[in-house]
Amino acid sequence: MFQTSAKTFSVLAATASAYRRVFLVGLRRYCKKTSTKLRVSEALSGAQLGADVKVQGWVRSVRPQKNNIFLHVNDGSSLQSLQIVADAKLNDPLLTFGSAVEVTGILKKSPHQKQPVELEAEQIRVVGECNPVNFPFKIKKRHSLEYIRQLPHLRCRTNAFSSLLRIRSEATAAIHSYFKNNGFVQIHTPIITSNDCEGAGELFQVEPSGPATVDDKNFFSVPAFLTVSGQLHLEVMSGAFSRVYTFGPTFRAENSQSRRHLAEFFMVEAEISFTESLEDLTKVIEDVFRSATERVLARCAEDVDLFHRHVTPGHRDTVEAMLNKSFPVISYTEAIDILHRSSEKFTFPTDWGCDLMTEHEKYLVKHCGNVPVFVTNYPYDLKPFYARDNQDHPMHTAAAVDLLVPGVGELCGGSLREERLNLLMDRLKRVGLEDTYNWYLDLRRFGSVPHGGFGLGFERYLQCVLGVDNIKDVIPFPRFSHSCLL
Ligand code: 4AD
Repeated sequence: MFQTSAKTFSVLAATASAYRRVFLVGLRRYCKKTSTKLRVSEALSGAQLGADVKVQGWVRSVRPQKNNIFLHVNDGSSLQSLQIVADAKLNDPLLTFGSAVEVTGILKKSPHQKQPVELEAEQIRVVGECNPVNFPFKIKKRHSLEYIRQLPHLRCRTNAFSSLLRIRSEATAAIHSYFKNNGFVQIHTPIITSNDCEGAGELFQVEPSGPATVDDKNFFSVPAFLTVSGQLHLEVMSGAFSRVYTFGPTFRAENSQSRRHLAEFFMVEAEISFTESLEDLTKVIEDVFRSATERVLARCAEDVDLFHRHVTPGHRDTVEAMLNKSFPVISYTEAIDILHRSSEKFTFPTDWGCDLMTEHEKYLVKHCGNVPVFVTNYPYDLKPFYARDNQDHPMHTAAAVDLLVPGVGELCGGSLREERLNLLMDRLKRVGLEDTYNWYLDLRRFGSVPHGGFGLGFERYLQCVLGVDNIKDVIPFPRFSHSCLL
């Protein structure tokens, strides 16, 4: 009995020891096999050929064949997806268009010409399922910008919108680089403000949603609004810094469904002290436009190409023409002459003193060779109180400038600012704003210098470079009258 037990024990011990050995070998193998996590763009660069890698992303196509299955996986790092080749036994009914996956395997040179690299999968894990029947995008179908606009929570999963978002991100970085490299100090101007910079009355008022606050007064004790422009705050700073800029969200309660207006948009604004003429501004505007556009074309070539080929064919030539020529400058008075001489029938009047409307702006751009054109010296009465009086007669103008661009019309608006205390005070008095802007008058009382600045609508800039007709297609979450999705 004892002998039998000893025998059983020794068999059990041997078995345990064998399992232990197998376990340790497995563990060692497991520990040795560390896959490098790569983004799709890194994998596609080909720098890691032969490496054991892990890639995570969303399936853009699935092609099962007899022996193999082919997938394309995208993680937003590039327009190109990574091709995955796997043995058919790794196929899984949950591997569908739109599903999220994690793939490990070896990066190999691809035998196909279309892609330089492919991932030979050893393991595919479906991280998140996606029912292709209910998913609103269909495999291989090119959905229109209008269609995907209805799905703001999902449209980043399409090629066109993910390209747009990468371009937007690169253009943002390019604009910041331009200002940084040219000695501008970035100022975070406030989003909530008590001033109406443009005086156009397109303000969103800010109020707490709950019951009235302390003493039944409004929250800030003064009316407060979402900013329509950071200009006046930049002007404060330009009393101590000769070059400042801001780049942030701006709000206008314009009751417009137009293709170039939003209720919330991003504006790039700069203010430059010790200016001598409008040329000091037009030079900076032209330089920002060129440097940002050149960088976007160079660093987002494939993404931009998608727009120029499929969304707005032929627009590439327009962009190249913009970059190859210097931007012409015409005065407002010349612009009115051009409109008068044209045979075009305009809807809005073109008399001297009338504002230029989109139809006029687009005509002027075409007339000047379909390149961006500066229009300077607008009628004094059309411009806000801060614009510098040119003191000319009989055509009384202000030193203001707009940049008009192909396809869009007005991209930038700017001016020299009235730095002369007496003239500014007179103008504010005439409109009854002398007390409200007493602090602004202080800027002219203490060390006032000639200065000027401009604002560039970032979404309109993207429209201009990509040729996108509707501004709602170049911002992640568009806000406009009667629409605030998500
Ligand atoms: O011409 P605007 O109104 O100029 C200003 O706000 C000045 N205070 C800027 C400054 O001098 N610092 O606006 C500047 C630009 C316009 O040329 C246009 O591109 C864009 O902002 N913009 C809009 N973009 C989208 N939707 C809207 N509702 C816009 N309103 C203006």
